[in-house]
Amino acid sequence: MTILITGASTGIGVSFAEEYAKRKHNLVLVARSEDKLQALAKRLSDAHGIVAQVFAQDLSKPNGAEKVVRFCDEKNLEIDLLVNNAGFGMLGEFLSHDVARLEEMVTLNALTLMKLSRLFATKFAERKSGGIINVASTAAFQPVPNMAVYAATKAFVLSFSEAIAFELKDKGIRVMALCPGGTDTPFFDNAQYERSKLMIPLEKPEDVVKTCIEGYERGETVVVSGAMNKLMVNSSRFVPRSLVTAIAGSIFKK
Ligand SMILES: NC(=O)c1ccc[n+]([C@@H]2O[C@H](COP(=O)([O-])OP(=O)(O)OC[C@H]3O[C@@H](n4cnc5c(N)ncnc54)[C@H](OP(=O)(O)O)[C@@H]3O)[C@@H](O)[C@H]2O)c1
Repeated sequence: MTILITGASTGIGVSFAEEYAKRKHNLVLVARSEDKLQALAKRLSDAHGIVAQVFAQDLSKPNGAEKVVRFCDEKNLEIDLLVNNAGFGMLGEFLSHDVARLEEMVTLNALTLMKLSRLFATKFAERKSGGIINVASTAAFQPVPNMAVYAATKAFVLSFSEAIAFELKDKGIRVMALCPGGTDTPFFDNAQYERSKLMIPLEKPEDVVKTCIEGYERGETVVVSGAMNKLMVNSSRFVPRSLVTAIAGSIFKK
């Protein structure tokens, strides 16, 4: 089996690569940091005897998805599972953010994820087999003031994944959305968010990935990682949306 993982250079993406390499799956690792991807590919091939390919690509550019597919076609790589994990967030008031940077976020977190899903699902449908794991977030379940665009991209990922999971199941394609809560990766430094402001302890990326793979293997469509995160997501359904929004805004303050 060959698994393509986007955002494989740090954080949750590295844990996906490690966990699937342990299970003896071949890998295609995608992100911008070629040096980190090459080092990871070498470490995992040496340790587990797998083949790990690297494709360095900026997926916040509109044609990033097509380039990934072209790379796989040129190398005759048949992908069995696509893990759309690359993404970033930015803390701060909507009006303070640079428009071009917001556009990159929407392109990376939502547009490229949708295009990769569409392009690989066509190949999966022809073979009547394949899978897609899309990394959303617990931020998908409510609006988040001061992270408005990020949370909206994750709401897109969740809704989109549930809908295509329903459409594609009869074509032999499994689709799942993973919704991690706060996880101990460089995400928070990149987002300029002080981790200690989160009300619950951060999960380890390797635990998030184990929960994800177990859920995928059980046939789940949506997996929220971590007991506290599940509790928060479920309890927020019974609270007025305006109050949930206000609480999220107080947690995600600059
Ligand atoms: N950490 C959390 O608390 C948390 C919670 C919920 C959901 N998530 C989601 O989990 C996913 C992984 O995040 P993480 O926590 O592991 O954060 P991370 O350590 O910052 O990893 C983000 C990954 O995305 C890649 N990436 C960023 N911009 C890119 C671009 N323009 N083109 C290609 N790749 C790009 C990065 O690689 P390069 O910089 O090398 O390109 C890196 O491999 C994201 O979708 C994030 O939204 C994280």
